[in-house]
Amino acid sequence: MEFGDVVARRRMVRRYRDEPVDEATLAAVLDTATRGPSAGWSQPVRFVVVTEPAMRAAIAALCGEPEHLRRGLDPWLTSAPVHVVVAIREADYRERYAERDKAASRGPAGWHVPYWWVDGGAALQLLLLAAVYAGLAAGFLDVADPDGLRRLLGIPSDVAPLGLVTLGHPAPDRRSGSLRRGRRPAAEVVHHERW
Ligand SMILES: Cc1cc2nc3c(=O)[nH]c(=O)nc-3n(C[C@H](O)[C@H](O)[C@H](O)COP(=O)(O)O)c2cc1C
Repeated sequence: MEFGDVVARRRMVRRYRDEPVDEATLAAVLDTATRGPSAGWSQPVRFVVVTEPAMRAAIAALCGEPEHLRRGLDPWLTSAPVHVVVAIREADYRERYAERDKAASRGPAGWHVPYWWVDGGAALQLLLLAAVYAGLAAGFLDVADPDGLRRLLGIPSDVAPLGLVTLGHPAPDRRSGSLRRGRRPAAEVVHHERW
């Protein structure tokens, strides 16, 4: 598949067929997701991959799916055969920038932007695109209770989940109401030479 087709086909999918993702495909998707850039090559991103049905059901409950179902939404999380928690470890930057070759660099204490979230976002985007390239679909959900997710999955206290990716074979679902807003035209968001 051409890169442009992968990008064009990617959309957040919130319902999946009752069909597992084969192990080799999942491994390839995750391998791609680990290849993103990171400041100082600190490599702060961690993934927790959950396929076991009871744990996926527990994650769905933690994320409020029963309430979503009562409101008439699709069984997004329970229908997805794979959940991937994407998380970052901020301490990786402090450790990396304490190394000798980084002594002269402005490290995390001087950054105007917390680059762990930037690098986590880059990994997230790779994961979403790799899923499409592999013939799967993916969705991303903000997790309102990251501490609950930490407890459920045994994620260490210095690792922060940034959200949950669902992976699987797409089933017909409802498009997000937000898409009614349409895409901002390039002329509005791209500035040439100066703002
Ligand atoms: C940081 C981030 C958080 C999001 N959180 C949610 C969410 O909690 N629930 C949801 O249904 N969609 C969520 N989305 C999906 C967006 O609504 C979606 O990307 C946007 O409407 C554009 O649609 P598309 O990705 O299908 O093109 C999130 C997307 C991003 C990038």
